[in-house]
Amino acid sequence: MERPPPGKVEDLATLAKLDEKVLLDELKIRYYNNDIYTYVGDILIAVNPFRDLGIYDDQTSNLYNLAKKTELPPHIFAIADSAYQCMIGHGGRTPENQCILISGESGAGKTESTKLIIKQLVELCHGNTQLEQQILQVNPLLEAFGNAQTLMNDNSSRFGKYIQLQFHNGQVLGAKISEYLLEKSRLVHQGSGEETFHIFYYMMAGLPKSKQEQFCLTAADKYRYLACGTAGVSKDKESSKKKYDELLNALDLVGFTDEEQYDMFTMVTSVLHLGNITFEEDDKDASYIPEMAPVDVVAKLLGVDSQDLAGTMTSIVTHTRGEQVTRHYTKQQAEEARDAVAKILYGRLFGWIVNKVNQLLAPTHIVPHSEQREIGILDIFGFEHFEKNSFEQACINLANEQLQYFFNHHVFKQEQEEYSREGIDWKEIKFVDNQPLLDLFLGRPLGILTVLDEESKFPRATEKTLVAKFNEKFGKVAYYKPAQSSKDSRFTILHYAGQVTYSGEGWLEKNRDTLPPGVMEMLQSSNNALVKSIFKAQVTRTGSLAFQGRQSTRKTRKGHRPSLEAARKRKLTVGGQFKNSLQVLMERMTSATPIFIRCLKPNHVKAPGSFDMKYIQQQLLYTGMLETTKIRREGFAVRPSFEDFVNKYKVILCKPTLAGTRDNCIKILKATGIKGWQVGKTKVFLKYYHIDEIADVLETMGKSAITLQRIARGFLGRRQAARRKEVARQQAQKVAELLSQIDGLSMKLISQQQTVLQNDKNIPQSFFGRPDSVLIEGPPPPVPDFPYRDLSSIGGVSLTSSDKRDYLQPKTFADSATQASDSEEDEISDDEFIPVPSTQHPGHKMASVRWFQETQATQIYDPSQQNFIAEWFHGVISRRQSEMLLKEKPTGTFLIRVSESRFGYTLSFRAEQRVRHYMIDQLRNKKFIIVGESKVHKTLKDLIEYLKDNKLSNWDGYLVEPCGQKSNYESGECDYGELVNERFYFTLEEQIKRQKTGKQRAMRESSRPLPPPPENWQTPPLPDRNYSLAKDMERDVSKRPLPPRPAEAYQRLLHNQTGRRSAFKEAQHNVYAPKKK
Ligand SMILES: Nc1ncnc2c1ncn2[C@@H]1O[C@H](COP(=O)(O)OP(=O)(O)OP(=O)(O)O)[C@@H](O)[C@H]1O
Ligand SMILES: [Mg+2]
Repeated sequence: MERPPPGKVEDLATLAKLDEKVLLDELKIRYYNNDIYTYVGDILIAVNPFRDLGIYDDQTSNLYNLAKKTELPPHIFAIADSAYQCMIGHGGRTPENQCILISGESGAGKTESTKLIIKQLVELCHGNTQLEQQILQVNPLLEAFGNAQTLMNDNSSRFGKYIQLQFHNGQVLGAKISEYLLEKSRLVHQGSGEETFHIFYYMMAGLPKSKQEQFCLTAADKYRYLACGTAGVSKDKESSKKKYDELLNALDLVGFTDEEQYDMFTMVTSVLHLGNITFEEDDKDASYIPEMAPVDVVAKLLGVDSQDLAGTMTSIVTHTRGEQVTRHYTKQQAEEARDAVAKILYGRLFGWIVNKVNQLLAPTHIVPHSEQREIGILDIFGFEHFEKNSFEQACINLANEQLQYFFNHHVFKQEQEEYSREGIDWKEIKFVDNQPLLDLFLGRPLGILTVLDEESKFPRATEKTLVAKFNEKFGKVAYYKPAQSSKDSRFTILHYAGQVTYSGEGWLEKNRDTLPPGVMEMLQSSNNALVKSIFKAQVTRTGSLAFQGRQSTRKTRKGHRPSLEAARKRKLTVGGQFKNSLQVLMERMTSATPIFIRCLKPNHVKAPGSFDMKYIQQQLLYTGMLETTKIRREGFAVRPSFEDFVNKYKVILCKPTLAGTRDNCIKILKATGIKGWQVGKTKVFLKYYHIDEIADVLETMGKSAITLQRIARGFLGRRQAARRKEVARQQAQKVAELLSQIDGLSMKLISQQQTVLQNDKNIPQSFFGRPDSVLIEGPPPPVPDFPYRDLSSIGGVSLTSSDKRDYLQPKTFADSATQASDSEEDEISDDEFIPVPSTQHPGHKMASVRWFQETQATQIYDPSQQNFIAEWFHGVISRRQSEMLLKEKPTGTFLIRVSESRFGYTLSFRAEQRVRHYMIDQLRNKKFIIVGESKVHKTLKDLIEYLKDNKLSNWDGYLVEPCGQKSNYESGECDYGELVNERFYFTLEEQIKRQKTGKQRAMRESSRPLPPPPENWQTPPLPDRNYSLAKDMERDVSKRPLPPRPAEAYQRLLHNQTGRRSAFKEAQHNVYAPKKK
């Protein structure tokens, strides 16, 4: 095969000549041609373009939909497509869980790639449900709180995340996020040219003035914690403001309530104010707070006592022999205490957000585990190397080492060991194994983290003693270099990606992550619900927050209950939690099929169109791309056992019962015609592209099978049809005969009847001795029940407590189950969100009616209308009925109708050519969204107002006039009659009362507060129809007059029924009764 021209090679593993220069040249030419993606077998290389290439549009997305990888250019969407195909078992594959691992330096494009993969996965399952829209919003939401600008990346992830998308039958079922090691120290200190987390700048730019006042916020340069990042505030205020609005929308869409959002922002601002608390020392070195104003603000925001807050930051109280002793902190200790409080506040808030997201995105119905599939996406913080590197960089780089190890292990080690075990003809490919580096960090009993933990136990330990211990223990390890001078508290580690010099400063405190005594108790008794609940939550062994307080199933010694002291001793350090997280992550990754994406950063300056050959070469070198290309070219990426292979592909030999033997495998392989495979002792060895080739063979066979089936079914169908036709003909003949017999008999009967009548006439009256009439009519059949009786039973019965299930509320946390201490954290497992089967299913009209009456009353309330009900509102009417209503109306006329199949509405409006319909869903926080659109609205009225000025994504027009009911509805009844009964009015009144009198926090108030009810509220006018009050429906809890009862319709019904009854009677008389004289 001829070599494609340079830059046209889409898969580097197909190159015959392979060296570093060839790889580099190919990538460079492709990069300048805007081909940023290149395959190395089944691995994708992505070079960051640092600009929008316009290659992620819907059209491209459609191309990579169950596509053949080789037929389209390399693309990130192809990786999503391939993961999806493998997950659902497309093309004869066995369905398997997938795990996409994205690696690369900070700023190489991992997070962007993650978002693109999720976007494409949502497209692939043709999802446009609320859940998928929510999943798409999770990344921007978490980025606001967990990303920051660093020297290496303007949107650098300061935490690691693993997103698990759960599927059932190819549809998204739910999602779960695991977060790792948020860099909390960034809050209290940022390096020069760096910023703190985005959320602070978004809030500063976006919070309306009134809210800023509530939070006592002033100019950004007044906050010490923003000292290094004030540029971030002034830099691009407009864009930060936009981001703030997007964040609010994302919070709404994911399902955070207004109260929760308010509490979140309260906590974020409290951190800012906390940073402004300063300390002085008196002549006894005891710290005190000279200016209490910021303390008061923080205390108010956090719902704690300001004296308590000041006390916990400046002193420690101990009890010795029954006496209370107060020891004051020094100024430095007080500052450390303040920063520790800020870090725990923000860290726990972040943990709570992730937990809440998991709760909101958890599957809502139970699917057997065996039918669930999963695609996981790992987006961690990239390898970092700054001028000054601390504990965080060490953890970040360790995570990258672990990922590289997993890659090596999967791609080289495991694979080559298997080749030799199976006796495959193979020439070994050497690779750089980073196992010694992992040992250096994680080794037991001697590893950097273990030594750090040991040293953290000594209160007197300092950075000098720590680094001295490191030097002593690891001085002889090849990958560790102590500093030249023993006084220098720095050391160097030769990572797989390059050497990094770390400063030992702050390692001990960051690893201990201890809180000043008393802080935890103070925050646990806060009168701010969110603060209280997140400090009552427990920390799991991986450092995440758990609110359910479930005990881990990990075995503890029988009958052994750890003492509080022992538990405290066991308190996990940050390093320990991180170690556990890496272990859990590895377990997850090994239990799924990994797919690797290697992101490359083309230059140090985040610039588009610049390909720094040396920098890229360095990245190719340390990631072992040359060796990877070789192993992908020569190796066998797919290695099924004989049994699996035969089971999957026996159809190629058309033998349903074929034993899983070596010979049978060879027979199948020969039948496919593919080249280059090998067969070992227990497994078949296939190249990565063989799977697609076999899939082609299966597809051809599948098509042939369909053709055969079509012919056979056609033949069988025709034969059966002919038989049925004959049977039908015979039956018709018999029926005709029967009818003719009946005809004959009826003629006979009529003639006999006439004879009898004639005879009767001839008999004289005196013979009977009684009046003329012979037939006495019985009482008339009863009139059918009034059809609205059902309605009365809905309206009149009061709800039991179980009926009053709030079907919109997510499962709440078991507050009481959580413990007030961090002490047993390694025993607590992650929260699990199990779907609660609901008895109140949407899809039943009764459920929809109840949902509407209990939760929607204020949505359609319009005091300007005579009957209080918005003009655009319609009941449970069908699509066709709405089309009839809108047919003759001008463009832009709209109505909103209640859905019967789900708890939601449909917006129908007249567009230029036709009537269009859009589903409106209600989110768990009771806000509204048009399915497929990303804008969330507080109320239906807001939604309508918004669409009067803004366009829908696929309609070039605006809503104009509401379509009312008057003169449109022929029957003379309101189509919302069944929804608007006494319960509706009762709920409406209650809700308005609550809104008027309830304690309203400013943030909680809807932006458009409902107008107060009119004076004559006690007797709300009924919808303007000819309704009358029904006496038998007066079992009304609120003593409210009943909703309209269509007297006219009732009369008509009665008339119809009695009319029909007389017609029936007449017919009866015609046949059976002798005509009266
Ligand atoms: N495919 C892409 N198209 C256009 N720009 C991109 C693309 N990928 C990345 N970028 C640009 O590069 C920047 C950095 O990317 P990203 O945040 O994904 O890096 P990262 O690898 O996640 O870094 P970190 O490890 O610091 O989190 C993005 O903000 C964006 O400007
Ligand atoms: Mg990132």
